[in-house]
Amino acid sequence: MNSLILIAIATSAIFAVSGYEFQSPKMEPYTSPYEYKKLTSDRWDEREPVEGMNQFYEGIFRARLDHFRPQNQDRVDFTYHVNANHYNPEGGPIYIHLKDFRDYSTRWIERGLMVDIAAETGAAVLTLDYRYFGINRPTPTASFEDLEFLSVEQILADVAEFARFVRQYIGGGRFTPVILWGSGFGGVLSFWARSRYPHVIDATWTSSGYIQPELASYGPYDIFEYTFFIPDDGRCISLIRNAYDIIAYLVINHQGEYLSGRMNLCHPVQTDSEADVAALYEITIRAILSFINEFHYTGVRSFCTDLGAIPGDTLNSFARWLRYVYGDAECFDHSYDTQIVHNVNTTWGSPGTIAGTRQWYYLQCTQIGSFLLADTNTWLPGIVTLDYHLEKCADVFGAEIDYETLRSAFNTLVQEYDQTVSNVVYTNGYFDPLRYFGRLYDPSGSGAVVNMDFAAKSADLLSQTVNDPQSIYDGKTAIREHILRWSNMTGPSIF
Ligand SMILES: *[C@@H]1O[C@H](CO)[C@@H](O)[C@H](O)[C@H]1NC(C)=O
Ligand SMILES: *[C@@H]1O[C@H](CO)[C@@H](O)[C@H](O)[C@H]1NC(C)=O
Repeated sequence: MNSLILIAIATSAIFAVSGYEFQSPKMEPYTSPYEYKKLTSDRWDEREPVEGMNQFYEGIFRARLDHFRPQNQDRVDFTYHVNANHYNPEGGPIYIHLKDFRDYSTRWIERGLMVDIAAETGAAVLTLDYRYFGINRPTPTASFEDLEFLSVEQILADVAEFARFVRQYIGGGRFTPVILWGSGFGGVLSFWARSRYPHVIDATWTSSGYIQPELASYGPYDIFEYTFFIPDDGRCISLIRNAYDIIAYLVINHQGEYLSGRMNLCHPVQTDSEADVAALYEITIRAILSFINEFHYTGVRSFCTDLGAIPGDTLNSFARWLRYVYGDAECFDHSYDTQIVHNVNTTWGSPGTIAGTRQWYYLQCTQIGSFLLADTNTWLPGIVTLDYHLEKCADVFGAEIDYETLRSAFNTLVQEYDQTVSNVVYTNGYFDPLRYFGRLYDPSGSGAVVNMDFAAKSADLLSQTVNDPQSIYDGKTAIREHILRWSNMTGPSIF
């Protein structure tokens, strides 16, 4: 794809761009072209016949609200989706997609590498929204108290319960391999599910799965520099640094109003508010990152070209790029206060609960951490501290987050999972700075690691084509071989 086409695609979407709403071009609301027929409580093999390749279904399974307290046997209805177009009812395998943060679509069970493989193996392909995300809302509100049943362990227990249910309901109770896959957050959950429930989950492909998270880390912002190591004699890197140097200079000199004008921001940068300055840094970096996660090497090249578009003024070029890629919204809303306003609302259907950012903050602030930090020693000038993240937690939930409790919860989480599980393939892209949390080599030798050049996050989810760069093409071949082999697994023998 050349960069003109790229820009055309990227600008075809008009976004109101703001802190909470911020979306990568990829995250345009996805509308499925398929109609999902509702499954009733009838047996799977007695469902109404559907023509040929239109076997898309939506069903309900009942999960425990609290998997870990025997005295609470309340059950909630969770919705899931199935693509049964390729399913071989004589024992085809079961592929379950675990969605990434902010993906509530069915896209990855409709097309892509795993669907292509399912066509070869006769697999049923399924997905579901996690508890509290998307359409699966188990409590009346999203208040801090009602989010109590949101934790990694509860989600994984749902996945295990779902896998057992599918094996019974669609697989007819016979042994059939259950293989998970997912990207990013879905990637780490797939890995943890395989680790925690190896008797239920037979194998996992984790695509850019951030499987070794840290409570807070300078790493990803630091190594983001390497994404721009392209053959241009370091020009791109110095342009980006220059843009951020100008921003830092204007902040230090309290030129918030002026900076806002230059960058077409909706509000003046509050240069005396550490939180507001940190929010500007975070959100602009995230804009670049999302773009590159979508367009990979082509994205890096086109971003670098655009940063030199207005000779002599990198900040203007950067502002122009932001406008280009994130739409002609009147302005770009970087503000800390906007993020808080959109995420404090506890009503289902409020912007933060629809985007899932409120629920995500809850997970981060109570268990997962994964806060990205920056200081004057990181690559780009900018200060994003742990205190900033903790302040955001407190402001979003109106409750002080006790750091020691969070730290203890995080440590428990990362120690809970066996790191040397078998039947896992880990794939990573060298342009993805969050690979810092990924598994880039496997000292245990029990899994398989595939690293891809010219790729950012999860370039391997899409179908394999001859237009793929060689490393991505080869990566997909390796993934396919693993999945084919796992799909042939037979059940545990009795003797
Ligand atoms: C919270 O969100 C709901 C749903 O969008 C809305 O009706 C309500 O007015 C919001 N509440 C506040 C306090 O903004
Ligand atoms: C899976 O099993 C089938 C039938 O036994 C066989 O033809 C095929 O080669 C096997 N594939 C792999 C990857 O082992």
